[in-house]
Amino acid sequence: MDIVKRVLIAEEEIQERVRELGAQISKDYEGKELLLLCILKGGLMFLADLCRHITVPVAIDFIGISSYGHATRSSGVVRITKDLEQSIEGKHVLIIEDIIDSGLTLSYLMNNLAIRKPASLKICTLLDKQVNREVDIPVDYVGFTVPNEFLVGYGLDYCELYRNIPYIFVLDPKYYTHDM
Ligand code: PRP
Repeated sequence: MDIVKRVLIAEEEIQERVRELGAQISKDYEGKELLLLCILKGGLMFLADLCRHITVPVAIDFIGISSYGHATRSSGVVRITKDLEQSIEGKHVLIIEDIIDSGLTLSYLMNNLAIRKPASLKICTLLDKQVNREVDIPVDYVGFTVPNEFLVGYGLDYCELYRNIPYIFVLDPKYYTHDM
């Protein structure tokens, strides 16, 4: 595809790391039930692969949050587009995210969820763009720390397209005009 500047993380690398994270999470939550809370839409691929490597009993729910619209940079405006379907009170909740960038989305979400009194609330992100962080976020599980480039694939979109690509690539700069 000519939109691919270069492949950043190959499919096999992603799958290997997801297996490792699944094993670690299974160990950490041994003897407990876990609610995986997937942030739509980007977290979907990661959730689907990760949950199959977790051996403790798992429930799944989704929350829709949008901070970007069609821009390539976080606006800081966070909007719940779809709320959870169940109460999280007394539950061990693990948030599943594709990427943390400024941290604004998760900062908002963590505050919003903490009020609902979960037994525990942790974060698992496949990608961490640490260099862009604007607010401090306690991230418990990280797949890969990534550079400040426009990343697409494996859940991450460019204008809502290419979430289905099984690897993560850097978008060719000729396809966007916004500053990173
Ligand atoms: C992306 C990503 C995170 C958020 C991270 O979602 O999935 O939720 O941005 O950015 P931040 O740390 O700067 O807040 P996006 O709003 O693009 O929605 P999508 O997952 O539906 O593509």
